Amino acid sequence: MSLPSRVQLIDVGPRDGLQNEKQPVPASVKIELVHRLQAAGLTEIEVTSFVSPKWVPQMADNAEVMNGIQRQAGVRYSVLTPNAQGFEAARLTKPDEIVVFGAASEAFSQKNINCSIAESIERFAPVVQAALTAGIAVRGAMSCTVGCPYEGDIAPERVAYLAGLMKQIGVQRVDVADTIGAGTPLKVQKAIEATLPYFDVDHICGHFHDTYGQALANTLASLQMGVWNFQSSVAGLGGCPYAKGATGNVSTEDVVYMLHGMGIATGIDLDKLVDAGAFISDFLGRKPNSNVAKAILNKRAG
Ligand code: HMG
Ligand code: MG
Repeated sequence: MSLPSRVQLIDVGPRDGLQNEKQPVPASVKIELVHRLQAAGLTEIEVTSFVSPKWVPQMADNAEVMNGIQRQAGVRYSVLTPNAQGFEAARLTKPDEIVVFGAASEAFSQKNINCSIAESIERFAPVVQAALTAGIAVRGAMSCTVGCPYEGDIAPERVAYLAGLMKQIGVQRVDVADTIGAGTPLKVQKAIEATLPYFDVDHICGHFHDTYGQALANTLASLQMGVWNFQSSVAGLGGCPYAKGATGNVSTEDVVYMLHGMGIATGIDLDKLVDAGAFISDFLGRKPNSNVAKAILNKRAG
């Protein structure tokens, strides 16, 4: 078994993590979180989304957050853009990468972005072209690649269908997302297998929510297939407002601890990362949703 020697992590905490928070989080706190993540060695950060503020009020300060970040050389800042309106607003803030986001499940596509899979692709195509022309990288998030809150299990053929469409419109890399965190390792491997005819392994990212506590196992199963790009959320923040009951992404702290323990490099300073997680958790008035963060904080206290 040969595993990657290095893993690239994208922290999606400021976006996926905070989008579901009911309490207001000021832009200044989001900006500070981004600063702390980059100080901890994260070189990819998903900062915010340019979606309708009526649908996701927490992301209404998208431009303020993007414009408030003191950018660090070598860090890639990405944002979600569901349509041309979102892209036009996003481009003014100079993201390095935009993310169009579709779903392998029709029902989730309707609930999340108010259109069918086919319609979403029609909307994404001009956005992808405009971004590439402007020299902005393009990622495609594929939600519900193993399970859907409305349709239940999702067949790998549905993932293949979406991956093929993403490739056709020029998306450069894709996220294989377990939106509701219900996947188990073999199911996740099947979703990745279904994506591989369209995107090589270097252009596939794992994006695993941890609702059922399977995300680390799913990460290991993906590593075994050669996947070396993963998304995670500091302090395990988050969830999708249109996937009821789904909790946050696997915490970045837990992933980094596992990878370092396996001798896989991430470039991340775990102690500084734990500090970043403690910062946002303190603000939210709760403990980090990360076993590793809790263990390290307890050890420091004791
Ligand atoms: P819609 O209502 O069908 O859009 O929403 P519309 O084009 O008919 O426009 C209706 C109104 O929305 C208009 O305003 C537009 O101006 C406005 P009004 O005239 O009523 O005042 N509007 C916008 N405003 C700001 N930015 C925009 C924008 N577009 C339209 N970009 C839409 C369609 C996609 C906008 C809506 O469904 C939406 O915003 N959805 C948000 C979904 C979302 O953010 N979900 C969470 C992120 S995805 C996720 O978490 C999953 C992921 O993590 C992977 C995984 O885990 O699976 C990525
Ligand atoms: Mg997500």
